[in-house]
Amino acid sequence: MSKIYKPKPTDSQISIHRMRDVDNAEALVPGMEAVFFAASSTQSFENDAARIAFRERWLGRFLHHDPQWVYVALKDVPSGPDQRPNVVGYLIGALDDPAEAQRFADLGYFQTFKAHTKDFPAQLHVNLAEDVRGQGQGSRLVAAFISDAKKHGIPGVHVVTGEGARNVGFYNRLGFKEMERADWNDHTIVFLGCRM
Ligand SMILES: CC(C)(COP(=O)(O)OP(=O)(O)OC[C@H]1O[C@@H](n2cnc3c(N)ncnc32)[C@H](O)[C@@H]1OP(=O)(O)O)[C@@H](O)C(=O)NCCC(=O)NCCS
Repeated sequence: MSKIYKPKPTDSQISIHRMRDVDNAEALVPGMEAVFFAASSTQSFENDAARIAFRERWLGRFLHHDPQWVYVALKDVPSGPDQRPNVVGYLIGALDDPAEAQRFADLGYFQTFKAHTKDFPAQLHVNLAEDVRGQGQGSRLVAAFISDAKKHGIPGVHVVTGEGARNVGFYNRLGFKEMERADWNDHTIVFLGCRM
């Protein structure tokens, strides 16, 4: 019998929100952390300090410095202040050129990609819980960010991901194209840019 491809139905209970528009936005953070650590390629840490530094590098600094560029995918929006929000995905971003911004100086690859960060200064990082992937929620998060970032006259947005990562196809379909690759921490990373 031939296999019939059935895409997962879109979960109509999931909605996309800009964090700054959510009441009691701080209550979203534990759910974002859970999605972040579950989706991360690093799953074990030498100690608590290493875990905290990792969280700060890839999530925390965006929450502190760029809270206006945080979006969440929520399943079943809380009906009152006592109900915990069920965060199933998030996008964090920034608009300024990371090769020029002091707060990204620890990410040496931005100097390597400096020729491209001028044209594609905005960056985004998007992650979903495993059981809601492949339903278009990631595309909705990216679209929400790009639509708002465009209003600030930003020429382009980029992501940096691993060579051969499955998410490359996702970004390509959204219009991101490979601009350059580089060796970083024993693997090859790619800079994908998308004009606004
Ligand atoms: C990448 C991701 C944000 C895309 O969101 P999504 O809602 O699943 O994507 P869409 O339904 O809009 O599009 C489907 C595409 O998403 C990507 N995708 C789906 N499931 C995935 C998974 N488990 N891991 C990585 N990418 C996945 C694939 O590119 C898929 O297309 P494909 O089936 O042709 O390979 C989401 O899948 C995810 O969080 N993946 C794991 C973490 C990750 O890779 N984050 C990006 C870091 S740069």
